[in-house]
Amino acid sequence: MNRRVYAVILASGKGERMNCGFPKQFAEIKGKTIIERSIEAFEKNENVDEIIVVSEPSTIEKIKEIVQKNGYKKVTKIVPGGAVRAESSSIGVGEVAEDDAKVLIHDAARPLVTQRIINDCITTLDSCDAVHTAIKATDTIIEAENGMMKTATERSRMMQVQTPQGFRAGTIKKAHCLAKKDGFAGATDDCGIVFRYGLADIRIVEGDRTNIKITYPEDVAVAEIFIEA
Ligand code: CTP
Ligand code: MG
Repeated sequence: MNRRVYAVILASGKGERMNCGFPKQFAEIKGKTIIERSIEAFEKNENVDEIIVVSEPSTIEKIKEIVQKNGYKKVTKIVPGGAVRAESSSIGVGEVAEDDAKVLIHDAARPLVTQRIINDCITTLDSCDAVHTAIKATDTIIEAENGMMKTATERSRMMQVQTPQGFRAGTIKKAHCLAKKDGFAGATDDCGIVFRYGLADIRIVEGDRTNIKITYPEDVAVAEIFIEA
């Protein structure tokens, strides 16, 4: 059975670390805004049926204009996000009616997501309820507290996570419901929430070193190099 595939694109952040005077999703990389590039990756994917954009409340109209201007046909909803990422994500997923649909949650701030990653996430959800995108860590990771090293880790076992993160809608809705009761405390990414409440085994799809998150101004230059290549 072919389950309906939704992409929830999170664009309700303020982009404070980017410090460009407006939410970073509207910054341009090689003539196109970050939000356009992120929406386009899912718009052109033949396995994605519908796109829900979660927007900063004050930029909903701006996103509507972008959707109209580009003629994106899969964007069915643009909804206002919440105070923290997990809340925005729960609002977006809440727009998906069917519990057995596949939902890919993606940071608008990762405009270079590849078609291969999107397809691998969708296919992997045929045989599990949750999928994470991650790459092997290149730097050694330590745990620290108050300026002191607390825990050493084995680099070969460490991975850096990216998005999309994919779920059966029912699984992620249940996770968000539990996280909401806890005030979304400590909730960063969606797989982290599912993991915390032990709701599903989480398979890992190989991400890509080019699938960077635009966080600081210098990340734009890196993205430009990847686009040129
Ligand atoms: N996001 C969201 N709602 C929030 C916070 C973040 O939808 N309340 C989204 C952002 O728009 C972004 C993604 O989550 O696409 C990853 O967050 P991050 O990189 O931290 O973006 P910002 O929160 O915008 O940036 P900063 O933390 O520097 O302010
Ligand atoms: Mg943030």
